[in-house]
Amino acid sequence: MKPACIFDLDGVIVDTAKYHYLAWKRLANSLGFDFTEHDNEQLKGVSRIESLKLILRLGDKQLDAEEFEAALVRKNACYLEYIQQIGPEEILPGAAAFLNSARAQGMKVALGSASKNAVLILERIQLLDQFDAIVDGNKVSKAKPDPEVFLKAAEELGVAASDCIVFEDAVAGVLAARHAGMKVVGIGAANVLDQAHFVLPNFAGLSITDVLAKFA
Ligand code: BG6
Ligand code: MG
Repeated sequence: MKPACIFDLDGVIVDTAKYHYLAWKRLANSLGFDFTEHDNEQLKGVSRIESLKLILRLGDKQLDAEEFEAALVRKNACYLEYIQQIGPEEILPGAAAFLNSARAQGMKVALGSASKNAVLILERIQLLDQFDAIVDGNKVSKAKPDPEVFLKAAEELGVAASDCIVFEDAVAGVLAARHAGMKVVGIGAANVLDQAHFVLPNFAGLSITDVLAKFA
C-alpha cells in the first residue's frame, strides 16, 4: 500500500512552538518561578493539561483544582492573543511545498496534533483543506508519547500504521510515532530527536521523494 504522511502541527508546519513557550513562560512567571527554553523542550508535543502538571513540578508549585483550571484558561488566552495575527507567513520553511509534494504523489495526508487549537491555526494559515484527516487534541484522551493520536489518524485515513510516515519536532511525538509502529522523521535537532529514524533541520528545498528515498 502507498505510504501516508501524518504531520504534527506546532513546530512542524507552523512556527507556533515559540508562542506556546512564551505563553507558558508568562504563566510560570506569574506563579513566581521562571521557565527556560531548555525546560520547554520537555513540553513540546505534550497536551495542555500534562504541560501544566510538568511546569508545576518544575516550579515546585501546587495548585488546587480551581486554580489549576484557571491557569489552563489563562495560558490558552495568552496563547490565543499571540496567534491572533498569524497567517500563511508563519508556515515553516518548505512545509507547504513538502505537503503539496506528498499530495501530488497521491499520498494521503493527515494531521496528528495534541493541540485543541489546531483547526483554528490551519484556517489562519490557509491549509485546512490540505488534509484528508485531522486528529487533534479534541479527539484524543491520551497525550503523546501515547500513540493514540497517530493511530487514530491512520484509522481515519484507512492506512496501516506500518505504512505511515510521521513528521515530528517533539521528543514526545517521536516516541508516540515509535509506539504506534510508524516510521518517523524528526524535524529539528538530531541530538534531541535521536529516537527518530532520521532527522531533518526543516523541509526547505525537500520533497516527499527525498524522504521516500531514505526509507527505500
Ligand atoms: C502541541 C504543542 O502541539 O499542542 C504543545 O507542541 C501544546 O506545546 C499542545 O501544549 C496543546 O496545545 P493547545 O493549543 O491545545 O494548548
Ligand atoms: Mg510539535
